[in-house]
Amino acid sequence: MDLLERAEMRRTKMLASLDPDEQAARGQYFTPHQAARIIASLPRVPEGASVRVLDPGAGSGILTAAIADRLHHERPDLRIRVTVVEDDAVLHGALRETLEDVSQRTGATVRLVGRDFLRWALSTSEKFDLVIQNPPYAKLRSSSEEQTLLRASGIVVPNMYAAFLALGLRMLSDGGQQVAITPRSWMNGTYYSQFRHELVNAAGVDKIYTFESRSKVFKDTGVLQESIVVSMTKCHTPEYVTVFISRDHSSKSSHRTVAYDDVVTPDFIHVPATEEDAAAVTWMATHATQSLADLGLSVSTGRVVDFRSRDMLYKDYVPGAVPMLNASHLRGGVARHPIGSKKPEWFRADEERASKLLVPGGTYVLIKRFSAKEERRRVVAATWTSERPVAFDNKLNYIHESGHGMNPREARGLWIFLNSSQLDHYFRVFSGHTQVNATDLRHMRFPSHLQLQMLGGSAAGNQESIDATVDAVLSTVEVLA
Ligand SMILES: C[S@@+](CC[C@H](N)C(=O)[O-])C[C@H]1O[C@@H](n2cnc3c(N)ncnc32)[C@H](O)[C@@H]1O
Repeated sequence: MDLLERAEMRRTKMLASLDPDEQAARGQYFTPHQAARIIASLPRVPEGASVRVLDPGAGSGILTAAIADRLHHERPDLRIRVTVVEDDAVLHGALRETLEDVSQRTGATVRLVGRDFLRWALSTSEKFDLVIQNPPYAKLRSSSEEQTLLRASGIVVPNMYAAFLALGLRMLSDGGQQVAITPRSWMNGTYYSQFRHELVNAAGVDKIYTFESRSKVFKDTGVLQESIVVSMTKCHTPEYVTVFISRDHSSKSSHRTVAYDDVVTPDFIHVPATEEDAAAVTWMATHATQSLADLGLSVSTGRVVDFRSRDMLYKDYVPGAVPMLNASHLRGGVARHPIGSKKPEWFRADEERASKLLVPGGTYVLIKRFSAKEERRRVVAATWTSERPVAFDNKLNYIHESGHGMNPREARGLWIFLNSSQLDHYFRVFSGHTQVNATDLRHMRFPSHLQLQMLGGSAAGNQESIDATVDAVLSTVEVLA
């Protein structure tokens, strides 16, 4: 049996001996070992010679066992110094056993603080490099002693778990990491708004792990809260967030890398919220596996910025002009030109400037960078084919093959995929705003060449037939790169 399996035995023994009322009052819902392993897998392994680990509300110590086990496994030379805080003396026996085991197995130095975490945290200036926690869930009444204490130090939270998170963050050194499993209620809504603003300001979210069937994670402890695991770094905001999804804590996960601003805003943290959302993400992760780069394709932003190119733009056709396409030309999934728009629809320039701003004739997939809030779809795409070169406005992204047009049938396949409800649902789960950036498209996964060929060869036209075709082709056709 390894460290974690023995900690799991102590956890289940402890759980069985707890009085249910006391357990609920103290928020003693211990983490199953598979979930503990997931939580401990998220932070980066520190690079220094030693690491100070804090486990507030340690219970029987399963999170400490999981993180020490991982750190020691990945960096046997790392000096681990663990501090656990647990105010229920009933748990101290089991917790001490876990700490001894951790110390013997990993050489870690261990310390048990048998005090109330809030009061201890507010009274010490100690700092840590890694905080790992499953904090207790308990509403904080506004007149309670705890609430008064927290407010006096500038922490405004409606629940004990958020107080633990806020204090954990405060106790981190700059660049230190906190990983926690919590209810997801702090991620939106007004109750947690001040807490969320402060958290998002003080730390960057690196990874989020969500469970499709959240009620199953703590099945043996009776918790039906929706749980989520978040790993963050103090004073450092990454460019991307990795979002993991698995059915529950014992099944395989899929993950996606999403631009930071699409996931984390002070007003809202966007992660799959419903089982339907999670299912949409899982479906996409299973069936669309190719990046644009895998397909030999690229996405670029249109090169013509209208106010910088005024002298090259014409409302009406002039000899030698080529089509100038902007977002207004994309309607109902089709690119039409000319449409008699108020904006210039033609482009003409000398050879040198034309060579910088035009793309050669061919077939391209165009995608609007900004869709209006009221637009039915988040991703608005159309194909464009012309023999002559063409100018694309910089409010459009276009998919191409090394700067040239792409295979027309695959372009139509991409168009069908991008216009499917499956893609729209998937995209909305992650995107809080109405922009579709080129980097989003670079990180997205698409059907294989074969699947694109099949999609492109179908007669699908209306939404219903597009969705049915995407479902049939992606669910059944083997993925071939
Ligand atoms: C949700 S359990 C998690 C236990 C353990 N970390 C795990 O993951 O299995 C929360 C723990 O915090 C402890 N706790 C609750 N309030 C506390 C407080 N004010 N100070 C310290 N520990 C507290 C509880 O006794 C319980 O063991």
